[in-house]
Amino acid sequence: MAKVYVTCRVVADEIERLRSAGHDVEMRDVSGPIAASELLENVESADGLICLLSDRIDADLIAHAPQLKIIANLGVGYDNIDVSAAHAAGIAVTNTPGALTETTADLTFALLLSAARRIVEADGFVRAGQFLGWELVQPHLGFDLHKKTLGIVGMGRIGTAVARRGHCGFDMNILYHNRGRNVSAEEELDAARVPFESLLEQSDFICVHTPLTEETRHLFDVKAFRRMKDTAILVNVARGPVVDESALVWALKAGEIAGAGIDVYEHEPKINPELLELKERVVLAPHIGSGTVATRRALARIAVDNVLLVLAGRPPGTPVA
Ligand code: 8YV
Repeated sequence: MAKVYVTCRVVADEIERLRSAGHDVEMRDVSGPIAASELLENVESADGLICLLSDRIDADLIAHAPQLKIIANLGVGYDNIDVSAAHAAGIAVTNTPGALTETTADLTFALLLSAARRIVEADGFVRAGQFLGWELVQPHLGFDLHKKTLGIVGMGRIGTAVARRGHCGFDMNILYHNRGRNVSAEEELDAARVPFESLLEQSDFICVHTPLTEETRHLFDVKAFRRMKDTAILVNVARGPVVDESALVWALKAGEIAGAGIDVYEHEPKINPELLELKERVVLAPHIGSGTVATRRALARIAVDNVLLVLAGRPPGTPVA
């Protein structure tokens, strides 16, 4: 009987699929990140692991998991896993590409609109009984999204889905910065590939959709914020450390940029206390890019499919190369 350790709550029917295949499943039924020691203890005897972004799967952990055959990450990003160490140990690593593309693109637009149109501030205002009637110049006047320039950093699946929404739904001018060209986005969405500096200078809204790598860590630093328009709004639904969080706080306070929609944090789940204080055109979400019922179910289904395949001696459906 193979042991599968699951580091977070997963819907019962997916756990049941593992059990009916004869596997011994242990699921951590607790909120919050798992301690490194608890993870190590449980992985030592596991054949399969279903985990998430906050679980650090490094070379040391892998060295202590002699039976492990698969690490199935619940998400598309896998910067929490030392993939080379896993592969060197003959362990398959899988992610969930495609499953959360449209859901994350929807949240990107929710954050863009919420920050630009000051929805959260306006909601608080109404609930506090402060709405005394329509005025031409009233609190919470926002910025238009339509026909503005949207800069996308990282033009992969999610970036392209955001570009499509911007181009087709809001008639926006699309700029993108990416290592390679995205020819179909250029042809179909009239997107223009530009250097990072030009994107910073020309965009009214900037969305981050790049994976976290050594090259993208702190891509948005003081220098980058200085280049942005002082009316610009930044949305990050990718990985927190792509943005230097103290530099972001500085840029918002100094008026170097006008607002932000943030779903991911540099030291998740900790958030810079100064960022929490900023409310004007600043909207914060608790890493819910993939957070719809259907999409979270899909992530679990894909991870379980991969574990079942590998433990049956077959190649996984969505391996990380
Ligand atoms: C995941 C994400 O749900 O897919 C990703 O890379 O950021 C999220 O949407 C989250 O990371 C949990 O692992």
